[in-house]
Amino acid sequence: MASVLYDNIGELVTNDPTHGGASLLGLRRDAAVVVEDGVVAWVGAAGGASPADERVDLLGRCVLPAFVDGHTHLVFDGDRAQEFAARMAGEPYAAGGIRTTVAATRAASAEALLASATTRLDEARRQGTGLVEVKSGYGLDVETEVKMLQVARQLTDETTFLGAHVVPAEWQHDPDGYVGLVCGEMLDACAPLVRWIDVFVEDGAFGAEAARAILRAGQAAGLGLRVHANQLRPGPGVRLACELGAASADHCTHLTDADVQALADSGTVATLVPGADFSTRSPVYPDGRKLWDAGATVALATDCNPGTSYTTSMPFVIALAVRECHLTPSEAVWAATAGAARSLRRDDVGRVAVGDAAALTVVDAPTHLHLAYRPAVPLTRVLAATTP
Ligand code: NIG
Ligand code: FE
Repeated sequence: MASVLYDNIGELVTNDPTHGGASLLGLRRDAAVVVEDGVVAWVGAAGGASPADERVDLLGRCVLPAFVDGHTHLVFDGDRAQEFAARMAGEPYAAGGIRTTVAATRAASAEALLASATTRLDEARRQGTGLVEVKSGYGLDVETEVKMLQVARQLTDETTFLGAHVVPAEWQHDPDGYVGLVCGEMLDACAPLVRWIDVFVEDGAFGAEAARAILRAGQAAGLGLRVHANQLRPGPGVRLACELGAASADHCTHLTDADVQALADSGTVATLVPGADFSTRSPVYPDGRKLWDAGATVALATDCNPGTSYTTSMPFVIALAVRECHLTPSEAVWAATAGAARSLRRDDVGRVAVGDAAALTVVDAPTHLHLAYRPAVPLTRVLAATTP
C-alpha cells in the first residue's frame, strides 16, 4: 500500500464542518493529511501522523480540495481571437459565433481534438483543478457530437450532451426539425456516452418550450439536467431549470428577484461563470451576493470555450467572483470546490475528509485568501489527484 503524509500544512481547507468550528471552509491550522492508495486516510495535526512511505513537507502553505470545474467546453478546434478583439473594440457578443467553432470542430479528427483538449486539461490541472465537466455542442450533427463525446470521455466521467447549443445553419429553415433530431437520433447516439444533458436557453438559441422537450427527453433517457440560463438577458432558463429539478443553472447573469427566489427554494445550484461576463464585456456580472444571501447554493466554473471564456483558470474565476460578483474570498473558494461538487451531485470531491478520493491542491501562500488577493499569480498546483 502506497501512503503519503502531507505534513506542515499551514491552513487546510476541508469543507468538512466537523473541522474548524462553524467556519464555512472547515479550516484547520497546522494540519496534516495522509493519503493511502489515492484515498484520504487520516486528517489531523501537523507532526501527529504515524509514518508513511513518503513525507511531503508543505512548509506552512495552504492546502484545499482540488477545484471542481463544473462547466467547460474543453473539446473544440480553432479559436476566435479575432471575434474577441472585435468585441473589445465595441462589437456585441452574438451566440452565432458558435457556428464558427462548429465548422472547425466538424473538420477536425478525433485525435486532434483529444490532443488540444488534453493540453487544456493539463493547463487546468497546473492551476489546481482536479475534476472537470466537459460538454459537446460544437458538432450539432450526430457524427460530430458523438466524436466530441468520445473524446470528452477520455478526459472525465462528467460528460454532457449539448446538442441543443444553437440550431446549426443547415437546420435554420426548420428549427423544430432540429429539436426532433436532438430528442431522437442524436440523443439515442449520445446518451450512452454522457451523464448529463444541457440546453442553451436564450433568444437566438432555444426557447422554453423546445428546451423543456429536450430536457424531458434527456431525463427519460436517464440523464441529469443542466441549463445555460439567463446569460445575455432575463429569460425563462433559470425557472425552467428549477421546475425540472436540474442539478445546475449556469451563467445566471440576468436574474429577476423571482429567479433568485426559485434558486433559493430549489436544489438547483447557481453556477456562476464570470469569465464569460469578462470576455463578452458584459455590462453586468451575476449577483453572487444576492444569491448567497437568499440561500441559493452557489458554484463557480470557468465555462472554458473559444467564444466567450477562453480560460482554464479557476483562481482567475475566484478573483472575478470576489471583485465582480461580491462573494467573499472564502465564499468564492467554497463555491469553486464544495459548491461545484454539489452542482455535479458528487459527494466524494470538493472536500478533504477521510474516505474521500484524494484530490488536493496546494496554494503557494499561507491562506486561501491569497487566491483572490493575488490575481493572476500562478500560486496553485494539484498535489494529489485521483478523480476521473
Ligand atoms: O457558455 N452560452 C453558450 N455557450 C457558450 C459560448 C459558446 C461560444 O460562443 O462558442 C457559453 O458561454
Ligand atoms: Fe457554456
